[in-house]
Amino acid sequence: MALRWFRKENPDGVFGPSSTAEEVTAGVDASGLVAIVTGGTSGLGLETVRVLTLRGARVFLAARNLDSAAKAREEILKQQPNANINLLKVDVSSMSSVRQAAEEFLSLNLPLNLLVNNAGSTTDKFRLTEDGIEEQFATNYLGAFLLTELLLEKMKITAQQSGVEGRIVNVASMVHRDTYKSGIEYDTIKTSQGYNWLASYGQSKLAMILHAKELTRRLREEEANVTINSLHPGAITTNLLRDIAGVFHAISAVYISLWGKDIPQGAATQCYVALNPDVKGVSGEYFDDCKVSQPTAFGRDPELAKKLWDFTLVLLKECEK
Ligand SMILES: NC(=O)c1ccc[n+]([C@@H]2O[C@H](COP(=O)([O-])OP(=O)(O)OC[C@H]3O[C@@H](n4cnc5c(N)ncnc54)[C@H](OP(=O)(O)O)[C@@H]3O)[C@@H](O)[C@H]2O)c1
Repeated sequence: MALRWFRKENPDGVFGPSSTAEEVTAGVDASGLVAIVTGGTSGLGLETVRVLTLRGARVFLAARNLDSAAKAREEILKQQPNANINLLKVDVSSMSSVRQAAEEFLSLNLPLNLLVNNAGSTTDKFRLTEDGIEEQFATNYLGAFLLTELLLEKMKITAQQSGVEGRIVNVASMVHRDTYKSGIEYDTIKTSQGYNWLASYGQSKLAMILHAKELTRRLREEEANVTINSLHPGAITTNLLRDIAGVFHAISAVYISLWGKDIPQGAATQCYVALNPDVKGVSGEYFDDCKVSQPTAFGRDPELAKKLWDFTLVLLKECEK
């Protein structure tokens, strides 16, 4: 039995760790909004798709495996027959797949109000993607960065024409604290030199936080009506640890089952940041339990954010070769 109830539940009476995605979006009318949610086949992404459609949004469930995506859609439709869900194929670890997905979406000539960069994975094995990038960095950050870049103009135009703020949501993690000593350790992104799997997972999540900071600065310069925030969803039992072996997996699984959130609670912060009116105009922040929180000093460092941005652009150019 979970010991979650030992935790102080919503101590200040507003949204907190035990709030669910449905609760934090109650009363929001998202009809007319178009959203893309990556990694919508399981865990937090699946719940996010369900709740965004429950609130009336048309959601593109973006996934690398269309069979799993179709099953996820069926699962939601059983409960919500009117849910408006389209499928979009994307492997976020492959930059050519991200480009194809963006092209496919843009060819539909639809507006785009919300982009939830939720897809993510972790592994204790060092692997390079087809683009020669460390797998966690590619999956958890680089693909999200590129997808955002390719869809940003569409989001700006949508926001301008509709007068409704566009929102980008980067699912990061508290584990950004466990990154490398220098914050971003550039050597580990293309080679196994100095590689540590947990630090690399943390690094990829730190990168998501820095992305939200730096993109916010850029969006503000041009006064675009689009925001981007990052968040820690909590510790939740999902498929995330499936490629982690041994003691770490066992300890984490026990910790999460005792102290963690369930999936509706775990998806709350990303649904809150995507839809709740209280977040209007807020950008570049890091949320935890539906509140603005402080990432580590690395996560607040504007110079590191700029340096990572420049490095990322070079990396993406190299992927095109
Ligand atoms: N669970 C936690 O405690 C926790 C804590 C902090 C942060 N997070 C973050 O929350 C997000 C959601 O994770 P989750 O806990 O819900 O785990 P999950 O159940 O494993 O879901 C991850 C989703 O991402 C998809 N995905 C993985 N690699 C992909 C790729 N290369 N291309 C496209 N989709 C890909 C998965 O699709 P497949 O089914 O095809 O693999 C799945 O739909 C992740 O970014 C994770 O890092 C989770």
